[in-house]
Amino acid sequence: MNTNNPFDLNNISAYESWKQEKLKGYPTKAEDLIVEINNPHHLTFVEKQAITKLCKKANMAVYISKMGDDSDKKIPFDIAKQLGISQLNKNMGADDDGITALQVNNDPLHKRYIPYTNHGIHWHTDGYYNTPEQQINALNLHCVRPAKEGGENAVMDHDIAYIQLRDEDPEHIKALMQMDAMTIPANVVDGEILRPDRVGPVFSVRDNGQLHMRYTARARNVIWKDDVATKNAVTALDNLLTSDNKYIYRLTLQPGWGLISNNVLHDRSGFTDDEKNPRLLYRSRYYDSLVLD
Ligand SMILES: [Fe+2]
Repeated sequence: MNTNNPFDLNNISAYESWKQEKLKGYPTKAEDLIVEINNPHHLTFVEKQAITKLCKKANMAVYISKMGDDSDKKIPFDIAKQLGISQLNKNMGADDDGITALQVNNDPLHKRYIPYTNHGIHWHTDGYYNTPEQQINALNLHCVRPAKEGGENAVMDHDIAYIQLRDEDPEHIKALMQMDAMTIPANVVDGEILRPDRVGPVFSVRDNGQLHMRYTARARNVIWKDDVATKNAVTALDNLLTSDNKYIYRLTLQPGWGLISNNVLHDRSGFTDDEKNPRLLYRSRYYDSLVLD
């Protein structure tokens, strides 16, 4: 067992030194997350290094390419590959290649799910309803076309959420690391179980030692463990994410831009489409984490 695990509540010194290092030079605004890139199919050493450095610090980076509204899926695919992630999760609703076209979609398969509407989406991490073995460790949102209005993302590094909650009360972390803290009820359609209940922690530690987070703020999507500590922790987390905390950054991806992350907390505001050129984002979910060393 790793005796230097900062996420062990009994190891205060490991936590304090990890936190100090984490917050040193931490981005202070959304613009600090941006890296301009020239050719997404062939990142230069300097571009790749800049993205990696940001992901190491903040678990995310925003790349700005010059590809504009080029809808070639190889753009996000190649960027991810060069950053060391390639194990795509082919979720329900994904295209055959595993990359999901997020756009308003009224067909029967998609329209039940909020990402394919123009509604806002509350704070979450992706794949919180996946099995423990199939957690989404990295996520890329690549913009082909933004909405006419809205469609902004708020983001918060889950390491920062952990720090804020642990410093408020370590009991919050203890509650949220319980293996049965959060149950996502089964997905049942017309009496058929498409996915059974998923039970698991909010915070856990990945095999590579990074922090992992499963979360959704959509109350009807989750059954919280029925104890006082969990209730208090969930309230604290909800308060944090609905506050004007300085570590919440907001941005609206533009054509050719992408948010690549270790599946950080994010939300999406509702939007209005330009009917002729509706919003289109490519979402890629990966089982592997961004390689940071
Ligand atoms: Fe998401």
